[in-house]
Amino acid sequence: MRLTKINLLNFRNYKKCNIKFNETVNVFIGNNFQGKTNILESIYVLALTKSYRTNNDDNLKNKDSDNYKIKGEVKTGKYAKTLEIKVLANEKKVFINDTNIKKISDYVSNLNVILFSPEDIEKIKGSPSLRRDLLNIEISQISKQYINNYNEYNKILKMRNDYLKLIYTNSISDYRYLDILTDNLIDRAAFIYNERSLFINKINNRIGEIYEKLTDISGLKIIYEASIDFSNNIDELKKRLREKYQNNLQKEIIAGMTLYGPHRDDFHFYIDDKDLKYFGSQGQQKLSMIAFKLSEISIFEEVVGTKPILLLDDIFSELDKVKKNRLINYINEDIQVIITANDTAGISKKLLKNAYIFKVENGKIIAKGDNNG
Ligand SMILES: Nc1ncnc2c1ncn2[C@@H]1O[C@H](COP(=O)(O)OP(=O)(O)OP(=O)(O)O)[C@@H](O)[C@H]1O
Ligand SMILES: [Mg+2]
Repeated sequence: MRLTKINLLNFRNYKKCNIKFNETVNVFIGNNFQGKTNILESIYVLALTKSYRTNNDDNLKNKDSDNYKIKGEVKTGKYAKTLEIKVLANEKKVFINDTNIKKISDYVSNLNVILFSPEDIEKIKGSPSLRRDLLNIEISQISKQYINNYNEYNKILKMRNDYLKLIYTNSISDYRYLDILTDNLIDRAAFIYNERSLFINKINNRIGEIYEKLTDISGLKIIYEASIDFSNNIDELKKRLREKYQNNLQKEIIAGMTLYGPHRDDFHFYIDDKDLKYFGSQGQQKLSMIAFKLSEISIFEEVVGTKPILLLDDIFSELDKVKKNRLINYINEDIQVIITANDTAGISKKLLKNAYIFKVENGKIIAKGDNNG
C-alpha cells in the first residue's frame, strides 16, 4: 500500500498544502514547532478519522478556520482510490472515491498506517487505559468486526453500569434485566478477548526477534493481564465470565459498575521476568515500543494482503549510533515510510539514497529535494 499524495486544507498550521510522496522513503525535516508532526498526524487522521493527539476536532482546524479537509490518494498494486475527510463546523464526513461513507467501520482499514510517536513511549509506563487504547486502535485497523463488537460492548457496558446503580439506589431485587445485559456483555467480551489474544500471539511470534535484531537482547514479549482467568476456548471463557459476574454481583452493585471484562485489562512488556515499565531504560522502552510497531507490519500484511505505511515521528532521537543504524537497516525494506527529523545529519546515507526530503517551515513545505538533503 502506498500513499501517493495528500492535500490539506486548514489542518493545524497548514492553510493549504499539497504533497506528492515518494513510494519508499520520505523525510520531513525542520526546526521545532514548524509542522513536521502535523503532516504525520494528518495522514493518521485520514486513515483512522481521529487523531492520536487530541479527541477534539476543533484543535485540528486551523486557528483561523471553522473547518478542515484532508484528501489523499492510496495505491494498492495497480488500484488507486481517494480518501477524504471533511470536518465542518459541526459535522464530520468521510468519502471514498468522492462517495460519502456513512459507517466509519466501512471507511477505516482503507488506509493502514502504523505510527510511532514519542507519546507511545508513555504507553509503556502510563495508565492501563493507554495500553488498551493502543490495542483497540491497532486491532480495529485489521478487523471491522472488532470495531463493531467493541462499540457494542461499550454501549452495553454503559447500560449495565447504569442499571447496577439503579439496582442499588432503588433496591431492585429482580435481576432479570441485569441478566440479559450481562449475557449480551459476555458475548461481546468473548469476541474482544479472542481477537486480542490472537493479535498478541501474533505480536509475540515476531517482537522478540525484531527487538533482538535492534539490540542483541533476546526474550522481549508481551503478557496480557485479563481481569478474569483467561482461556483461549470461547465457551470456557464465557463460562468463566459468567461465574465472575455471578460471584461478584453484590460487589458490582455496591460499586455501581462492571468491574471485570476487557475494559479493565492490561498488558505489559517483559524481558525474561522483568517488566520494562519498572526495569526498562528510556532507550529500552523506546525500542521495545518500536519493535511492537514493527511487528505489526507483517501482521497487517497477513490480514490485509499489503504492507501498511509506516509513520515514524522523531524516531532517531535518544538512540545511539549502532541502534540507529540497525533501525534504518530494518525499515529500509519494501515499505513506504514517512519520517520526521530535525535534520538529515543523523540519518544514514543508505536511507536517504532514494528518499524525498521535504523541508518544513511554519506550516509550509519550502523545499523538496530528492536525495540531496
Ligand atoms: N489548530 C492549529 N492552528 C494553527 N496552528 C496550530 C494548530 N495546532 C497546532 N498548531 C501549531 O503547529 C505547530 C506544531 O506543529 P508540529 O507539532 O507539527 O511541530 P513539529 O515540526 O513536529 O515540531 P517538533 O520538532 O517540536 O516536534 C506549533 O507551532 C503549533 O502552534
Ligand atoms: Mg514533532
